[in-house]
Amino acid sequence: MKHIVGILIVMLLLLNACSSSSGSNSEEERFVEALLGKMTLEEKIGQMNQRTGQWEMTGPAPKNNNSQQLLEDLKNGHVGSMLNVVGAEATRKAQQLVVDNSRLGIPLIFGYDVVHGHQTMFPIPLGEAASWDPELAMLSASVAAKEAAATGLQWTFAPMVDVGRDARWGRVMEGAGEDAYLGSAFAKARVEGFQGSDLSNENTIAACAKHFAGYAFSESGRDYNAVEIGGESLHNVVLPPFKAASDAGVATFMNSFNTIDGMPATASSYLQRTLLKGQWGFDGFVVSDWNSIGEMIQHGAAADLKEAALRAVKGGSDMDMEAHAYLAYLKELVESGEVDVKYIDDAVRRILRIKYRLGLFDDPYKYCNDEREKNNLLTDEHKEAARKVARESMVLLRNEKQILPIDEAVKSIAVIGPLADDKDSPLGNWRAQAISNSAVSLLEGVKSAVGTGIKVNYAKGCDLVTGDRTFGNILNFNNDDRSAFKEAVRAAKKSDVVLLAIGEDAYQSGEGRSQTDITLSGLQNELFEAIYKVNKNVVVVLMTGRPVVIPELAEKAPAILETWHAGSEAGNAIADVLFGKYNPSGKLPMTFPRNVGQVPIYYNHKNTGRPVGDDMGNLWSRYTDSPNTPLYPFGYGLSYTSFMYSNLHLDKNEISTGDEVKVMVTVTNSGKVKGKEVIQLYIRDEVATYARPVKELKGFKKVELAPGESKEVSFTLGKDELGYFHPNGAYVLESGKFKIMVGGNSIETIDTTFTMN
Ligand code: BGC
Repeated sequence: MKHIVGILIVMLLLLNACSSSSGSNSEEERFVEALLGKMTLEEKIGQMNQRTGQWEMTGPAPKNNNSQQLLEDLKNGHVGSMLNVVGAEATRKAQQLVVDNSRLGIPLIFGYDVVHGHQTMFPIPLGEAASWDPELAMLSASVAAKEAAATGLQWTFAPMVDVGRDARWGRVMEGAGEDAYLGSAFAKARVEGFQGSDLSNENTIAACAKHFAGYAFSESGRDYNAVEIGGESLHNVVLPPFKAASDAGVATFMNSFNTIDGMPATASSYLQRTLLKGQWGFDGFVVSDWNSIGEMIQHGAAADLKEAALRAVKGGSDMDMEAHAYLAYLKELVESGEVDVKYIDDAVRRILRIKYRLGLFDDPYKYCNDEREKNNLLTDEHKEAARKVARESMVLLRNEKQILPIDEAVKSIAVIGPLADDKDSPLGNWRAQAISNSAVSLLEGVKSAVGTGIKVNYAKGCDLVTGDRTFGNILNFNNDDRSAFKEAVRAAKKSDVVLLAIGEDAYQSGEGRSQTDITLSGLQNELFEAIYKVNKNVVVVLMTGRPVVIPELAEKAPAILETWHAGSEAGNAIADVLFGKYNPSGKLPMTFPRNVGQVPIYYNHKNTGRPVGDDMGNLWSRYTDSPNTPLYPFGYGLSYTSFMYSNLHLDKNEISTGDEVKVMVTVTNSGKVKGKEVIQLYIRDEVATYARPVKELKGFKKVELAPGESKEVSFTLGKDELGYFHPNGAYVLESGKFKIMVGGNSIETIDTTFTMN
């Protein structure tokens, strides 16, 4: 075992949980303190209450009691924030109710789930992470912010920065995949994209890092399930993207539905007070997830809503989303002495601070601008951005005999499949204000790319889903209607190449959409077989919200392009890639398993004591019915060209603890066309007090190379990359040997070593 040579961050000074980065004497803090000083206890609690919009703010409130009550609460200053009220006019009306009627007229902050676009849809976040280009995520977030801000909103419940290793969990589509390092880079970029450099700018909105914490580790991939995680994984895998968001200045956090080792995240003062507001110095506010305060009762962690309110407020949840617990009980809890008013003051200070930064006290209506709403949505510029991000998000999984890009000699193309002319699923699951059926379908994209020279033969082949497709209902799949197979087979027979668009409906992934089976649903594999029988040139255009299990396709289909749910410009972006206008450069942010039984499967696993089976008979860490290896590993993705890695070297082979080592590698475009490559650097800390993963991503760079061109790319590894967290949260650098691996995916790498003394 190695000697522990340094504990870099044991417990940073426990910062005053109410401290502000802008300093306690700043104008902002003076304003906040002065306002707080004027507020009654009830008004303070009102700020901590977030309610959903239940009626069109432009019309009369429906006559049921709840809405009437909400109206009264708004007028009395008992609501600090609303969600799901969208539009310049609707938000203005709601804001007016508060500003004109409540004693202090403290403006509402309007939040909404703007996750991968507002009206112009971008690829789902998992897909966008496949670009390995955080600048693209920044671009999409900034466009989404501009559109959202033009519809009266100041706050998005995004980015979701949960590191997800289990493809059964439907919400992996909302995150950046399975890796904490990649996830941190995307967390930072998305926060910066939404918030810009100035929250008071009318085109930026406050971001929200969610779900704090551990939500993606729900047992067996079932949504909302308990999380048993342990300190080592919590600190090294789950928390880093949250820390990155906090460091990037994210305005808010959202906690999560789950318990974590038995403790409801919503009540966790370790997470919310000790870590987030203490050690990390976060000065914004934490909103609960939807009724996550109330759900503590079902968890068996609170006897009733009153106890839930008590545990949540002490735990550090500043705003109650839709549990109605704070408004109902905080006053009496404070008056009885069970809750110290300092918790209330701290929460309200944080909320007022963000409202101040957004400029709401200067002008509560600054985001309610009809003109901007009219001119800023789904503009040509935004669509162009969506197309760019989409094509860079696509991952070429297979390309036998270079069937892609589609050859100029091709004279006829069959476009087949339940998703081929689907203008809706490409919009993805969290579609905010997207107009249904507004995406460019694959068929449309192909038609406009080929012009008149190539014949396009379309046939649906089969439906994927029967009945309603909405966020609110569970999908029914078509398991028996093969009546359209015949026509699809005919189209395939008479075409040179088949583009087969299959995968998942947009509503198959997302919240509440966990699956035990992540093979292709319905008749899609059968459709593939029927087509493949008559035409071997099948290019599978895969549209999914998660990694899927596709052994048959991976064996037979000459080409597979994972396009995810690619957004408003899906069809155009896919056509850009298929016809070679854009050379694919995406790399998987999440492992594709061979079968469901391997899940959770991820590249940065521990080695076990019995990792290989050469001389161990049966008794090694394996399955008897499947290899351990994935179908497609993390970081994997092909290009229309090829890249060679050589001359991996370091500036020194020994360093002292805390020093840096520089890693250099030469990358050559060894193929015939220009292309971009994502160069990935992994390390392995070979011996440590707590066993380290077999490899961990610690750097990546995307470079473009002309055919034959070489570039030397360098990385620097220092204390941020070479240490790790012990289970108690202490960051340590341990001396010893490190392996460095560099390559174009997490499996095919070249390597070297160095020692840290
Ligand atoms: C989700 C959150 C979301 C919230 C508000 C919850 O069900 O877990 O991610 O922001 O609803 O829509």
